[in-house]
Amino acid sequence: MESIEKLGDLTGKTVLVRCDLNVPLNEKGEITDDRRIREAVPTLKDLLSRGAKVIVTAHLGRPGGKEDPAYSLAPVAQRLSELLGDPVILAKDAAGEDSKKLAKELKPGEVLLLENIRFRPEETSKDEEERMKLAEDLASMADLFVFDGFGVAHRKHASSYDVSKLLPSYMGFLVAKEEKALSRALEDPARPYTVVMGGAKVSDKLKVIVHLLDVADRILVAGGMAYTFIKANGGQIGQSLVEPDMLDEARECMRIAKEKGVEFVLPKDLVVADAFSADASTEIVDAYEVPENMMGMDVGPKTCEEFAAKIADSKTVFWNGPLGVFEFPKFAEGTRFIAQAMKKATQNGAFTIIGGGDSAAAVDAFGFKDGDFSHISTGGGASLEFLKGEGLPALGEK
Ligand code: 3PG
Repeated sequence: MESIEKLGDLTGKTVLVRCDLNVPLNEKGEITDDRRIREAVPTLKDLLSRGAKVIVTAHLGRPGGKEDPAYSLAPVAQRLSELLGDPVILAKDAAGEDSKKLAKELKPGEVLLLENIRFRPEETSKDEEERMKLAEDLASMADLFVFDGFGVAHRKHASSYDVSKLLPSYMGFLVAKEEKALSRALEDPARPYTVVMGGAKVSDKLKVIVHLLDVADRILVAGGMAYTFIKANGGQIGQSLVEPDMLDEARECMRIAKEKGVEFVLPKDLVVADAFSADASTEIVDAYEVPENMMGMDVGPKTCEEFAAKIADSKTVFWNGPLGVFEFPKFAEGTRFIAQAMKKATQNGAFTIIGGGDSAAAVDAFGFKDGDFSHISTGGGASLEFLKGEGLPALGEK
């Protein structure tokens, strides 16, 4: 895909843009982190400045192919309009009658946001023909397609993948920025290259970890997924999160790490709690000796120090996933400590990447600034998939 920089004057043209505007909302439906919306703005402003009529398609959460007001893009439309400094028209449906009518009436310089594209079951269907029907609905409204939703680049969905087969397609500034930064960690990274993996699910990330054993010098594993590895090593993990059917694969992953000479580091100590709650009673214990009635909620101080020392000694660091339940202040210390270590490493000249999703939300919530790290990706799953080096469906697979 060529960059939108190649495009000239777009007066009279309608451009369909796929953005990833999947932002976290609180119980009141307010946006708690608008990074993805902010990052969508440069491409949209560029297209508007060329005289285009702009239609944006995006998703919010996983509504399961049904219309559900809880997943409406209304709060996103409002924030996008504030950031653009122009009104954003929100269609009542996703590429249906209302969208098509509004698309026809759109004037140069105006923005139309289609309702949550995942209200349509075809969007995420495994059946290509079904997805194609929705892609045709989308394409019927526009002359050109711009893909700028890096966070969904790893998904083979109608609005990110199939529609590009129907219209002349270009990539937006965000996608170009993400590709440039992440390629630095993929192709010939400065060494030592350290990967910090947190987050809850081993099953989501194990394949990526195994792949990263070919490129990284050390892998530091923490967060909810670490307990499965600790149990696989014979540790007592009490009530901590575990994926019992992943124990063998976790063992195999550690064996491959050893064989390849990659340092594989698990937490030494943990902050454990007697309940999954913000005000649970806590203690610090050896990571291999969690009491029977307790569960791991964060890494302990020894682990923080060890991880920080390894980050300080690295020239490239990629971090994906929180180290503890950072949404509860009592269990945010490990994640905050690692963010601080990443900031320091950046100041000392290391190339550092925060790999999207929860880790980006965490550094934003802690008040870190964009310039504290070399790159903050907007894609959690997408950045991990990118690092496999096999390309991404929306950007062209290798
Ligand atoms: C994300 O939040 O990582 C992207 O928006 C993709 O969402 P998904 O995992 O629901 O496809």
